[in-house]
Amino acid sequence: ALRGSFALKARKANRGSRYGLQLVASYKVAILGAAGGIGQPLALLIKMSPLVSALNLYDIANVKGVAADLSHCNTPSQVLDFTGASELGDCLKGANVVVIPAGVPRKPGMTRDDLFNINANIVMTLVEAVADNCPDAFIHIISNPVNSTVPIAAEVLKQKGVYNPKKLFGVTTLDVVRANTFVAQKKNLKLIDVDVPVIGGHAGITILPLLSKTKPTVSFTDEEVEQLTVRIQNAGTEVVEAKAGAGSATLSMAYAAARFVESSLRALDGDGDVYECSFVQSDLTNLPFFASRIKLGRNGVEGLIPSDFIGLSEYEDKTLEALKPELKASIEKGIAFVQKQP
Ligand code: NAD
Ligand code: LMR
Repeated sequence: ALRGSFALKARKANRGSRYGLQLVASYKVAILGAAGGIGQPLALLIKMSPLVSALNLYDIANVKGVAADLSHCNTPSQVLDFTGASELGDCLKGANVVVIPAGVPRKPGMTRDDLFNINANIVMTLVEAVADNCPDAFIHIISNPVNSTVPIAAEVLKQKGVYNPKKLFGVTTLDVVRANTFVAQKKNLKLIDVDVPVIGGHAGITILPLLSKTKPTVSFTDEEVEQLTVRIQNAGTEVVEAKAGAGSATLSMAYAAARFVESSLRALDGDGDVYECSFVQSDLTNLPFFASRIKLGRNGVEGLIPSDFIGLSEYEDKTLEALKPELKASIEKGIAFVQKQP
């Protein structure tokens, strides 16, 4: 669906701009960490979106070349590069969506939490700038550990007095993308039709695919549920090991993040039928943040989908309870990190 909608809308937008017509809406997207493994392909995919009129790329290194390169694509958006703290504010002014993939990725043997010490500071600093320059933007956090970096972002925004829980998102779309792919392969289904909600968080056992809620309805043996769940939970590690020290998922992540950006832009543009999974402030469990399906609207999260939590399988119920202590600790670690800053 993403591929199709990009191609069709890009053709329309191209035709429109050639005749000086405004056929589609225009939004400004900023990517912070745009020269990285995720940032570059993500910037390319967003450059293809006809909903985007301005694409601002920020990184601490190498972003000038990335922007020069991208700017030659004959799609509507204008690409600008920004580098160094002094240019961050200008990158963010007027942004409707800010995507943050800045930070270090894992190497084999590491957990996402092992990235905390470096990435917590990076996310805190970048979100401070978002708070100062575009507090009304949708903020998409990709930098790991997402289970902690989203609470860090929330805490920073609170301290700045601009926290809007409806507009802060941990990007967990890759978990859904993976779940859809693996389920379609296992059950021999047409990929385009498959949709598996993934709830909880974005690390190991905190990732919980709700296979019982798969659309179209499909039945799994207990063995299939166990095997698929564990594969989805470990899919990030699968890529880290295959890359053998050269980083973690970048291309599939860019694809997933572009889907989440496109969904956000469609919602901003008034589409009333946009649903995604995301790690957001939530009251669906006793934890303050939780990934679930959400309805997206002009103002961000328009609603959580509590019905997804009704009628879970025994396996899902058990796994849901089992993930809570780890997720709770990661959330509290993020909040404490900001609160203990001088
Ligand atoms: P990368 O090292 O290839 O790129 C990171 C980029 O961030 C680099 O270009 C670097 O210069 C930049 N950067 C570092 N500090 C910065 C700062 N203060 N301001 C702006 N830019 C800064 O890494 P990657 O493979 O692109 O991964 C980035 C992050 O995304 C990692 O933390 C990784 O774990 C995470 N990730 C998350 C998901 C998810 O599903 N949410 C999936 C894959 C990767
Ligand atoms: C992923 O799920 O691929 C990312 O969170 C990166 C990682 O470290 O696994």
